[in-house]
Amino acid sequence: MRGDQEVRIGIIGAGGIAAAHVKHYKLMAGVKIVGVADVVAGRAAAFVSEQGLTGARAYDDHKELVTSDLDAVSVCTPNTAHYRATVDALQAGRHVLVEKPLSVTMAEGVEMVAAARQARRILSVGLQTRYAPDVTVAKRIIESGVLGKIYFAETGGGRRRGIPGGSFVSKDLAGGGAVLDIGCYSLDTVMYLLGHPRPLTVSAHTSNHIGTSPALAPRMSSGYRGAFNAASFDVEDFGAAMIRLDGNICLLFRIAWAMHLDSLGPTVLLGTTAGLKLAAGVCLYQDQEGIATETQLELGKGPDHGPFYRKLEDFVEAVRDGGPAPIPADTFLHTQAILDGIYRSARARAEVEVDVPAGIQAACGRGD
Ligand SMILES: NC(=O)c1ccc[n+]([C@@H]2O[C@H](COP(=O)([O-])OP(=O)(O)OC[C@H]3O[C@@H](n4cnc5c(N)ncnc54)[C@H](O)[C@@H]3O)[C@@H](O)[C@H]2O)c1
Repeated sequence: MRGDQEVRIGIIGAGGIAAAHVKHYKLMAGVKIVGVADVVAGRAAAFVSEQGLTGARAYDDHKELVTSDLDAVSVCTPNTAHYRATVDALQAGRHVLVEKPLSVTMAEGVEMVAAARQARRILSVGLQTRYAPDVTVAKRIIESGVLGKIYFAETGGGRRRGIPGGSFVSKDLAGGGAVLDIGCYSLDTVMYLLGHPRPLTVSAHTSNHIGTSPALAPRMSSGYRGAFNAASFDVEDFGAAMIRLDGNICLLFRIAWAMHLDSLGPTVLLGTTAGLKLAAGVCLYQDQEGIATETQLELGKGPDHGPFYRKLEDFVEAVRDGGPAPIPADTFLHTQAILDGIYRSARARAEVEVDVPAGIQAACGRGD
């Protein structure tokens, strides 16, 4: 499309994150939201009116939206609906920004990437964390080679009282709990920093002691999408895993939506010549002439309007310029394979092998 042409966007799924997409798209010149779809009858129409989307049409079926006159869509449905909405949009010739995580299963993720390639359309994943100032700085340092060979990484995160409600605690809608919801950010960050090495095996554990406890549940809500009900809570609120990555790298992971602790520790990477810690900044640990040094790295101010704006702005620019995707879905597939492996291993209570199709390995291995 021409550089001065208006980019016409549709939104699929009119919930919490859709409102954030609308807020940020509205700040951009030359972008117009022309339609909104939601599977709950009347919800898209209410959203159009609440958000003041003059001229936008409302649909109860995303298929009608993706076949209307528009360039791209933001897929903002719960996780289990990402696959269908994304593939339908791509097959209708639309570019897609799909919210994180890409999909629930590896098989769906692979099909979504294949659909984008076949339709020759952009498929970008909504991981604003890749634009976070600490991640940007860590990526530059790692690419400089200063860490030497990286042989170990540990990542994850923990909230003390942070269980969301609504679609997030329903397995039918979300497909999983803390591992998929917030674990995908930390795993993607480390995999991005490492250049997306191929996962080989996963040994994982998940549990939901907090979310299913009638006594604790009312106190452990984050408030996002309302309170949740312990009786119907059927996803995990905790997960831990050891992942073996190609290149003889060991990755440890732990995540909690809620816990009786302040933190599960920072993200760290150990290399043969230096180490890196991401915790409220980035610290580089080195040995210089026998002296152990710690250098707090300058982060800069980060992108204008913040990482979330930047992920949408880069997507719009890619649509205008004809690609490439700013956060290519294929670079998330090794992370998707790990997420898939975590659930399989936790169910089996044993280490599982991670099988990544050969074509996917090549795409991921380019390290952006
Ligand atoms: N990047 C971020 O910062 C961030 C933050 C929160 C949520 N998310 C992601 O955004 C997605 C949505 O989260 P949310 O908080 O907006 O959830 P939500 O439950 O508030 O909203 C989802 C909406 O999608 C609708 N929906 C469900 N199936 C649909 C379908 N097949 N077609 C059309 N509409 C459908 C629901 O009716 C609902 O209105 C999730 O994948 C989540 O992981 C991302």
